[in-house]
Amino acid sequence: MLDQKTQEIIKSTAPLIKEKGEQITTRMYEILFSKYPETKELFKNAPQDQYKRLANAIFAYSANIDRLDALNEAIERMAQKHVETNVKPEHYPLVKDALLTAIKEVLNPPQEVLDAWDKAYDLLADVLIEREKQLYMEKTA
Ligand code: HEM
Repeated sequence: MLDQKTQEIIKSTAPLIKEKGEQITTRMYEILFSKYPETKELFKNAPQDQYKRLANAIFAYSANIDRLDALNEAIERMAQKHVETNVKPEHYPLVKDALLTAIKEVLNPPQEVLDAWDKAYDLLADVLIEREKQLYMEKTA
């Protein structure tokens, strides 16, 4: 769970994420692939509009941060895709680094906004990693 203040900050950034989300995620993939080239092959079959999908997901997350059950279906789909493409828990800090750097570059927000996104990312990552763990277990069972 995120504290109230963090939720409010994240929610207040939703309009900005809607407006600049694609710029953020385009930049995030550039950073990810140049800093962590080992992640490139995970995306070898990814659709052209992957950056749009990620932007939509981040926007939906920010807008629904106070009612995450609205995102259950979207989260399930992400987890399925991640397991299909062999995304592992150790990849999450790399995406976090790239995403937070991209948010910083594109939005240049106050530190408290960056701190809120840092916490919010960890929460979503935990939810995804947990579901993906189950799906990997079902696959090998
Ligand atoms: C909180 C973090 C993350 C979010 C919100 C997120 C979001 C998404 C979304 C929305 C999709 C598209 C699902 C669809 O097709 O509808 C996706 C697919 C994917 N994500 Fe993530 N993701 C996250 C973390 C990661 C990490 C850590 C990696 C590994 C570097 C990763 C790699 C991929 C790959 C490889 C795909 C599939 C691309 C394809 O269709 O081939 N994601 N993710």
